[in-house]
Formats: sequence, structure tokens, C-alpha cells
Amino acid sequence: MNKVVVGAQWGDEGKAKITDLLAQNADLIIRYQGGCNAGHTVVAHNKTFKFHLIPSGILYGGKTCFIGAGTVILPEYFDEEVQGLIKEGIDVSGLKVSPLASITMPYHTEVDGYSESTATKGKIGTTKKGIGPTYTDKMARIGLKIEDLFDDEALSEKLDIILPLKNKTLKEVYGLKTYTKEEITALCKKYAEIFRPYVCFDWQTILEDAKRANKAVLFEGAQGVMLDIDYGTYPFVTSSNPIGGGAATGSGYGPKMIDEVIGVAKAYVTRVGEGPFVTELTDKTGEKIREIGHEFGVTTGRPRRCGWFDAVTMRYAVLTGGLTSVALTKIDVFDNFEEIKVCTAYKDKRDGKIYKNYPTNVFMHKYLEPIYETHKGWMQDISGIKEYEKLPQNARNYIKRLEKLLEVPISIVSVGPDREQTIFVNPQ
Ligand code: GDP
Ligand code: IMO
Ligand code: MG
Repeated sequence: MNKVVVGAQWGDEGKAKITDLLAQNADLIIRYQGGCNAGHTVVAHNKTFKFHLIPSGILYGGKTCFIGAGTVILPEYFDEEVQGLIKEGIDVSGLKVSPLASITMPYHTEVDGYSESTATKGKIGTTKKGIGPTYTDKMARIGLKIEDLFDDEALSEKLDIILPLKNKTLKEVYGLKTYTKEEITALCKKYAEIFRPYVCFDWQTILEDAKRANKAVLFEGAQGVMLDIDYGTYPFVTSSNPIGGGAATGSGYGPKMIDEVIGVAKAYVTRVGEGPFVTELTDKTGEKIREIGHEFGVTTGRPRRCGWFDAVTMRYAVLTGGLTSVALTKIDVFDNFEEIKVCTAYKDKRDGKIYKNYPTNVFMHKYLEPIYETHKGWMQDISGIKEYEKLPQNARNYIKRLEKLLEVPISIVSVGPDREQTIFVNPQ
């Protein structure tokens, strides 16, 4: 069974925990989009590991962890992450990088930083890791790929095309520093050494062999459906496709290689950065969720905005993300909540119009208010429970209600950050 793990909300849903769990039974783990904007936490053996680019399956050793063509890689960050793992004694011999992955150059991070710091209106609140500018160049066909680092002639030819254009924009549009061909060539030489042990020119054989031998492939998504460039709250999104379909374009395998798409969702909702968020709680309840759930960004340290579970966006995520089941995380955060709310529809304050389906024009979201139903809390610690039947009745009622609203099974319930704190519902 080949599975994709997809964030079903605005990122940070606990994807890495679920990926780590499923990686036990996978042979090949593939990151298919995004870059080091991702911050993925795995708690195992009383240790906390934080990943940005490297598939969390690396912790098992002996598994092939492939960073696919759909990703963007900031070389210095990649290097730092790999060295950190080596220092921890983790075996990184299974780590492979697609020669087709895009490289984030210094000018990409500089432009991202500039755009974010000078924007007054329309600020996205990016992670400033150069994600948008790298994908922009990729789509404009003026990006550099990992394979270019290993072909001096191709690199030289490409730089002759890219650099004059790039420098003109850097100088005239952004007022930023320009680069000489010598500078970039020297940098690329350094980058080549960073990637030399990991670049996988033989990736087609690896993918074909895994397919032929019917090996279990796990696709690890970053970000979440509501941050998807096509289906998210555009323009307050990232610049890639975190949806299930993204696994097919970003990995090198086609859609028929995917059997299941597991959407990871918190029992509530969080978001970092700007953009609409209809169920956001700016009051004491929001603060309580943030405090108990430790809702601070892994990559940027920013406090995450918190709110009630939003079944309207989540149903939209089930559809567009292609979800076949849901892993519900952080339900333990509600252990001390007398009441829990779930948004089942939106109401337009201007004319009372009810939206059961997610309205994609986000500029009218400021006029929307959530329609809630209220559920009784369970008021007990559930973080040590390992079987679904042992969960308090009110917790099961909450889970069953979400399942009914979403029309897909909730197959995993997570009650704490540790690998062990996981309940498989109806395990086969
Ligand atoms: P990701 O980006 O989707 O992988 O998620 P992050 O790692 O950014 O954020 C999720 C945070 O929640 C991490 O600190 C996890 O250790 C933690 N976490 C994951 N699942 C649970 C859970 O079920 N309960 C609690 N309390 N924490 C969890
Ligand atoms: P993981 O994989 C949460 C958000 C940023 C910003 C928007 C665009 O840990 O779930 P970008 O730097 O990608 O151009 O920023 O997307 N964002 C995330 N939010 N989790 C993430 O990753 C995110 N990656 C990007 O905060 O709003
Ligand atoms: Mg995260």
C-alpha cells in the first residue's frame, strides 16, 4: 500500500509524527514539494528531532529517503540539517536528492526577505526561506537545478542567460545587490560538494525497482491543502502543491502509484502568517489552545494563530487534497475544555447567506462568521490511552461527529507527540 501524508489545514498538523509512524512499514519515503519552509517534529526515544527538508523516515536507518523533483533546496540549510543528523549518530546513507530539484540561491532569500519587509499591504508572512522566488524562477524557466552543479558547461551557459536578467531585476526592481558570474560559479562549486554524496542520478532505477518489487512507498507532504498554490487561500499560500496530487508531480511517480491519501488535521486549527481564518479565536480560548498545544512555529518561532475545528475548509480539503482518510492529532489538547466547538457552516454578515461549501474568494472572508455546534468536553487526561474503545465517550462522540461531517474515516487518533501516543482506529 503506497500512502501520501498530506496536511489538511494550514500546515503544522502533526504530519511528521504520522509520517514517522507510517515510515516503519515503508521502504521508500519521498518528499515531493516545498523546501525548508517546513518544520517537522518527531518525538522518538525521548528525543525531539526537527526536520525541514529531509524526510523524517531517515530516523529508521536503512530506508531510502528521496527528496524529489518538486522540491526547492536551500543548500546551506540542507547541509546544516544533514550534519546535525550525522552528529546525532543517525545513518544518512539512505538519503538521496533528485538532480531535478530546484536550488534556492542567495538572491531568492534576499528577494523573499525584501518583499516581506517592505510590503505594507498584501504581506504574506512567509518563512523568508526564498520559497516563492525559487518557484517563480523555476516556472519562468530561469532556475538552477541540482544537476547543473555537476555540469560546468551547462551551468556556464545557463548563467549567461539567467544572470543578466536576474541582476537587472535585483538592481532595478528591488534595489538589491547584484552577482557576478564568478561569484555564482564559485558558490555552485561549494554547493556541488554539499550535494555530491547525496545526488542521485540513478533515481529512475530506484523508483522503477521499488515499483517492480512492490515495495511500500510513503510520500511525505509539507505545508497543507489550505496553503496550496492552486486551492489554498491564495495569495496567502505557499508556492507549491501540498495536495495529494502534488505527490504525483513532485516525486517522479504517476497517480496510479498512490493507494491512500491520509490527511492530517488537528482537532482544532492553527495558522502562521497572514491570511483569512474564519474560526480564529483572538480571545482567552485561543490563548489557552496556543499554550496547551505549544503552538509556536518550528521554523520561525512565531506564535501560531489558533481557532476551532473548521469542517467547511476541512471538507474542501478532503475534496481537493484527495483525502481517503484522516489522522486526527492533538485531541489531547482539549483534555481540560468543558466545551469544544466545531464550525459547520459560514454566514455572510452582510446578507445572512449561508455557506456550507468553502467560498474560494478569500477577500470576502472578512464578512464571514462561523456557525458553531457545541460539544461536551471529556475533562480527563487521554494522553496515555492506546485503544479507541478506552477513550471517554465524549471524545469518541467528537471524533464520530467530525467523521460524519467530513465523510471520510478517521483512521488514526493522536493523543500526544510521542510515537507511542497513537491510536489506530479499527486496525487491520
Ligand atoms: P508538521 O509540520 O505537520 O509536521 O507539524 P509540526 O511539527 O510543525 O507541529 C506539530 C507539533 O505538535 C509538534 O510539536 C509535535 O510534536 C506535536 N504533536 C503532534 N501530534 C501531537 C498530539 O497528538 N498531541 C500533542 N499534544 N502534540 C502533538
Ligand atoms: P509545515 O510543513 C505552516 C506558511 C507561511 C506563510 C505561507 C507562505 O511545517 O506544515 P512560504 O515561506 O512557504 O512562502 O510562506 O505559508 N507556511 C507554513 N505554515 N507550516 C508550514 O510547513 C509552512 N510552510 C509555509 O507561514 O504564511
Ligand atoms: Mg510544521
